Amino acid sequence: MKINKTALITGTTGQDGSYLSELLLEKGYKVYGLIRRSSVNTTERITHLINKSNFELIEGDITDSACIYELISGIKPNEVYNLAAMSHVGTSFKQPVVSCTVNAIGPLNILEAIRQTSPKTKFYQASTSELFGNTDVVSQSEITPMKPNSPYAISKLYAHQLVNLYRNAYNVFACAGILFNHESPRRGENFVTKKITKYVAMLLNWMDLNDGFPTKGVDVPPLFLGNIGTKRDWSHAKDMVYGMWLMLQYNKPDDYVLGSGKTHSVENFLDIAFAGSAGLDYKDYVVIDKKFYRPMDINLLCADSSKAKRVLGWKPTIHFTDMIDCMVQDDYEKLIKCRD
Ligand code: GDD
Repeated sequence: MKINKTALITGTTGQDGSYLSELLLEKGYKVYGLIRRSSVNTTERITHLINKSNFELIEGDITDSACIYELISGIKPNEVYNLAAMSHVGTSFKQPVVSCTVNAIGPLNILEAIRQTSPKTKFYQASTSELFGNTDVVSQSEITPMKPNSPYAISKLYAHQLVNLYRNAYNVFACAGILFNHESPRRGENFVTKKITKYVAMLLNWMDLNDGFPTKGVDVPPLFLGNIGTKRDWSHAKDMVYGMWLMLQYNKPDDYVLGSGKTHSVENFLDIAFAGSAGLDYKDYVVIDKKFYRPMDINLLCADSSKAKRVLGWKPTIHFTDMIDCMVQDDYEKLIKCRD
């Protein structure tokens, strides 16, 4: 059955924005995708959607209140998904003001525009497991105390609290998805998973073209990484965007944790990507570089998504190792295409 609804997605050119656009188009939505002006092409993740009749890109920026006000009052969408963010935790230490403006003032602009001009619009905010910081709680849920420890997470906490405020003070249907790490072949290149899978694909490509195994520093450059002892709860981005949609379909707004409930170290990810996909030992290729360490990091994240499972019927469907395999495979296929 087709649903005739309109949605505005900010961050539509990103990993999550592209998967969510696909999902909503499949469900019969008219999708407006907000896109920031840029002199270079930023639409590679949504090229296949651009000519679809129900998909419209609109130039704008969530940090510009006038632009957001005009957009929301004009479209009055049924649903707004705020996925636009300065999403790299490490970078937020170097660009704290930009991080704060985009991640905190951006959602404030959207919520104010909804409150003043389109109060029936439902709102989804991309909150994050980074909100928990270094917690003693073994599996983090919606009630776990938040102790953010990066400029990124602190700006996200402001937005998270705004969702609560606009829901309780103004009756806005506002939900926050506290999402744990989520990856896919469309992951940005400076996140640790993508750095690893792209590198393994490069090794596979080298082995196709040469006899034997590549030697680090001779045949291939090393893979420079930071702290590989930290642990994260990784899921596939496709599962996560489905959860975002479910939150806005439920009969009352609330906050939900989404994650797999399983935690792995970066080292574990390395092991699986190198040994599983290429039969190689990551220790032969990785060099630890302090440049990639953060002034503060989170040691361990692990989701307790029992509320999302119970209330929304949400559960992750793509297994950790399958996700790694498909990321390596996708990076490898891209390299094969470049060979000719
Ligand atoms: N990016 C990166 N690059 N991280 C590295 C590297 C490296 O070379 N080497 C080690 N790491 C470690 C980081 O220090 C961190 O502990 C872990 O790998 C994961 O880093 P990221 O992939 O950058 O993700 P993140 O956990 O910091 O943040 C992601 O997940 C959050 C949800 O928990 C991002 O997607 C955030 O936007 C999101 O909110």
